[in-house]
Amino acid sequence: MRIFSGIQSSGTLHIGNYFGMIKKMVDSQDEGELFTFIASYHALTTVKDKEVLEKNIFDAAVNFLALGMDPEKSTFWVQSDVKEVLELYWILSNHTSMGLLERAHSYKDKVAKGIMANHGLFSYPVLMAADILLYDANVVPVGKDQIQHIEMTRDIANSFNNHYKTEAFILPEARVDEVVATVPGTDGAKMSKSYGNTIDMFASKKTLKKQVMSIVTDSKELDEVKDYTTCNIYKLCELFMNEEELKELQQRYATPGEGYGHFKLTLLDKINEHFEPFIKRREELLNNPKEVKEILAFGANKARKIASAKMEIIRDIVGL
Ligand code: ADP
Ligand code: TRP
Repeated sequence: MRIFSGIQSSGTLHIGNYFGMIKKMVDSQDEGELFTFIASYHALTTVKDKEVLEKNIFDAAVNFLALGMDPEKSTFWVQSDVKEVLELYWILSNHTSMGLLERAHSYKDKVAKGIMANHGLFSYPVLMAADILLYDANVVPVGKDQIQHIEMTRDIANSFNNHYKTEAFILPEARVDEVVATVPGTDGAKMSKSYGNTIDMFASKKTLKKQVMSIVTDSKELDEVKDYTTCNIYKLCELFMNEEELKELQQRYATPGEGYGHFKLTLLDKINEHFEPFIKRREELLNNPKEVKEILAFGANKARKIASAKMEIIRDIVGL
């Protein structure tokens, strides 16, 4: 089974990205053949500054590696290091109806947020389909917001397969884990770098504390009983705590005497504790860009072999 996913290198990674995607990928390294890439071409839809894009790609690579991505076990590369994907993107464009793309929520949301409505943004799902189909992916672990893109990939693959009477493309399945389907941000809405409500993964201690302290709650006082079921702090604690710890926390909500500030500090400790083991490796990689480049080149070579073999088959099917 091929497990496949990518992440856009469009900014600082937050714990929504971590639980929604990165952790799932790292954890599934022993479950099947893992393919993970940094979606640098996709990032061009939002990042149009050379230095920023370069830094984002490097940071994303460092974070993935520090968090446990094993480049020997898995295939880990930067999308733009394997150009075959652009050729497939063009071929698939000719099997993608305008109507399909016009229905994409993600496009509409991004335009509503002020991202320029250009062709790159509009055809983003076709490039995503090319990523997935080029590598014969079976399962694609993503957050809830990406499910429609996987459905579109299936539609595009189906229309190509039907047209050429072939089974060249495998239809992928999205894998969404309900608990972490949508990690809430500090304001309770979906955590997203474009909403400014993130808790970042490797922020400085000071920034992290500021982010956690800014979590929005109701205004119950210390001596009041609090409702954990509607509390943003509790929802975030669910990601970091086991059942026993959660039971204990529920008890604290039910017992007057503590305020939300106390619960926030508990969450802060859990976040620090969770990411602590990865900090040393991350520092090493940050200080050794050459090693990171070598790892990515090794991954691109592995990916390119598969991509070029697949493109030979596809070119033959279409008559190129
Ligand atoms: P952002 O919304 O911050 O721009 P991206 O769209 O780049 O994040 O998402 C990268 C990956 O992380 C995707 O697989 C996405 O589904 C996942 N992801 C992002 N935000 C969240 C969230 N709040 N909860 C769960 N998964 C998320
Ligand atoms: N669109 C995804 C995101 O915003 C990134 C991505 C690009 C991707 N190509 C992919 C994810 C292929 C899974 C499979 O995070």
